[in-house]
Amino acid sequence: MHAVDLIERKRNGEELSADDVRELIAAYVRGDVPDYQAAAFLMAVWFRGLTPAETYAMTDAMVASGVTVDLAARLGRRVVDKHSTGGVGDKITIAVGPVVAACGVPFGKMSGRGLGHTGGTLDKLESIPGFRVELTTDELVEQTREIGIAVAGQTADLVPADRKLYALRDVTATIDQDSLIAASIMSKKIAAGASAVVLDVKVGKGAFMRTVDGARKLAQEMRALGEQAGMDVVCVLTDMDQPLGRAVGNALEVREAWEALSGGGPADLRELVVGEAAQLLALSDLGVDEEEGRRRVETVLEDGSALATYDRWVRAQGGDPDPARLPVAPVVLEVTAPVAGYVHELGAREVAAAAMELGAGREVAGAPVDHAVGVVCIRKRGEEVASGEPLAEIHARDGAAAARAETALLAAYEIGVGEPEPRPLVLEVLR
Ligand code: URA
Repeated sequence: MHAVDLIERKRNGEELSADDVRELIAAYVRGDVPDYQAAAFLMAVWFRGLTPAETYAMTDAMVASGVTVDLAARLGRRVVDKHSTGGVGDKITIAVGPVVAACGVPFGKMSGRGLGHTGGTLDKLESIPGFRVELTTDELVEQTREIGIAVAGQTADLVPADRKLYALRDVTATIDQDSLIAASIMSKKIAAGASAVVLDVKVGKGAFMRTVDGARKLAQEMRALGEQAGMDVVCVLTDMDQPLGRAVGNALEVREAWEALSGGGPADLRELVVGEAAQLLALSDLGVDEEEGRRRVETVLEDGSALATYDRWVRAQGGDPDPARLPVAPVVLEVTAPVAGYVHELGAREVAAAAMELGAGREVAGAPVDHAVGVVCIRKRGEEVASGEPLAEIHARDGAAAARAETALLAAYEIGVGEPEPRPLVLEVLR
């Protein structure tokens, strides 16, 4: 195999054989193909795309690059999982996991850290004092068996090809290519051993996929990859023009997820938690349809058992589940509306930029994050505000950071005359 020939053929728009793709990925992971050739290949893929057969070969090679976990076989149950393609304010896993587990369905999941403008579940969970995300595979399995839920960081030996390729894509402007995203996400889902997965495909200005057409294409690719691996996949296309919920920033988001588990929280967050949890129950071995799933989900949210499961889960991973123990930022700055009107736009990317300015996210892998800081969007799209009324709250480490974030945050808000046309949160479901 000569990497340069494969790069040239992909650059010219040719389809590579499955063996070519497999060999190239394996050689890259071994270190026999250098980063500069892998980068050239990724850029050729960005322009030319991958065929379904090439995408499958790439996914397969990525799964084969490390160990796999057969969670379902080890638990003797169907195991469900969920994954989001990445958004702003997306704390769904922290609420959906305990809900699903409280309904009696095992939820054992490996999650990722935030990179770029999108947040990561592990960083959010680590804002809980004492919470330990590094579980061995045996611990993950045992805890899922005993408590019904475990969420851990992806172990180093699971899909090492994705770790290496993702880092390279991140610095070569090749993240936003649907086949590469599909292979990256599905290789991790397949290797982690779930029987069924609900994929939340984010669409809009704060997502990798800006259009519904692009998101649908990505969803179809991921479903096809799942099916080939014997996994049931449901894709939910959801709006990411504005952040999900009101809180953006690690501890602030955990608090909001806790509120949703307590029966409160913002309406959009609740809608997705209930919808995705019901879909997961319908994919599980409970033998219920989505409607019955929704009833059961509402029940565990109302009777306190979802919250009790959250408490048990957090304690099992060494954390303190009391939201009063979450870290708080020393400076809270209220951002007020410069004019009266309705919020016409609340740019997810701009809100994320404000949160990054505060230190809530990371630009480079491995950099530390400040768990306490972030933004709470008091007003969201469609809501009315009077001049001088609060639009948002900035939670900052110091006054200077708060002032910088205020400029970024004001750029996120577009206030206009008259109520804007409502936009649905769930845009499409692909079953
Ligand atoms: N999330 C992933 O895990 N991989 C991608 O390529 C994009 C989002």
